[in-house]
Amino acid sequence: MNRINSFSSIAEISNPLEILKSIAQMKGEKIVFSTSLSAEDQVITHMIFSLNLDIEIFTLDTGRMFPETYQTLQKTLEKYQKEIKVYFPAAEEVEELMTEKGAFSFYDSVENRKQCCEIRKVKPLKRSLKGKTIWITGIRSEHSQNRTEMQKIEWDAANNITKIHPLLHWSNDEVWTYIKANNVPYNSLHDKGFISIGCQPCTRAVKEGEDFRAGRWWWEDTSKKECGLHSIKQ
Ligand code: ADX
Ligand code: SF4
Repeated sequence: MNRINSFSSIAEISNPLEILKSIAQMKGEKIVFSTSLSAEDQVITHMIFSLNLDIEIFTLDTGRMFPETYQTLQKTLEKYQKEIKVYFPAAEEVEELMTEKGAFSFYDSVENRKQCCEIRKVKPLKRSLKGKTIWITGIRSEHSQNRTEMQKIEWDAANNITKIHPLLHWSNDEVWTYIKANNVPYNSLHDKGFISIGCQPCTRAVKEGEDFRAGRWWWEDTSKKECGLHSIKQ
């Protein structure tokens, strides 16, 4: 059931911390926040953990992450001493994929790439959202053309869940000012030209002047650069 109307008062709040506090106080909700350990996700994790908000945090470990991303996870666990739940793809599906198509099938076609994302991200995401009523993400509208039209609070029909993006209207500068001011641990790849960070074989550093997601699936058309976690309005 689309419940967007019940969130109208939260939609008017602009401060992300206040949004998180208000959601966490809502009765009867089962709230999760998905972190990819990106800079914006680290901001939200800091807010949730520092205030002890009743929001579960999880990450999808695709099995193909950068060592630096695992280090960020470890630094975060050590700093906050709180749980981040890790979801992993189904072993037999990865075994079949790798046996049939090898280790780099995603470079061969968009279809193969989507198959890998489906197995390693989308299906584990479905498990992580099971029984939950609110899904918080670190999406910002500056990330891509597809994200400029998003609303802070949306109904995700594919996953049957209310989706909230507290940092939707934050700028990159606001994210980094917050990280530095609050001593938030972050992925060291950000200091080496990486902006948007996903799986290791599908992410590269970005050159001066290139856009935010230029380093993701760089061999594909811009219009196809989403992995299926977040549906695109065409
Ligand atoms: S993606 O769709 O291209 O992979 P992106 O990296 O921009 O997504 O991240 C947008 C949001 O999706 C993040 O703020 C986070 O909430 C969620 N997300 C992306 N990747 C993961 C992951 N591996 N684990 C958990 N959440 C993720
Ligand atoms: Fe597979 Fe690349 Fe998608 Fe990661 S981003 S799940 S390695 S296709």
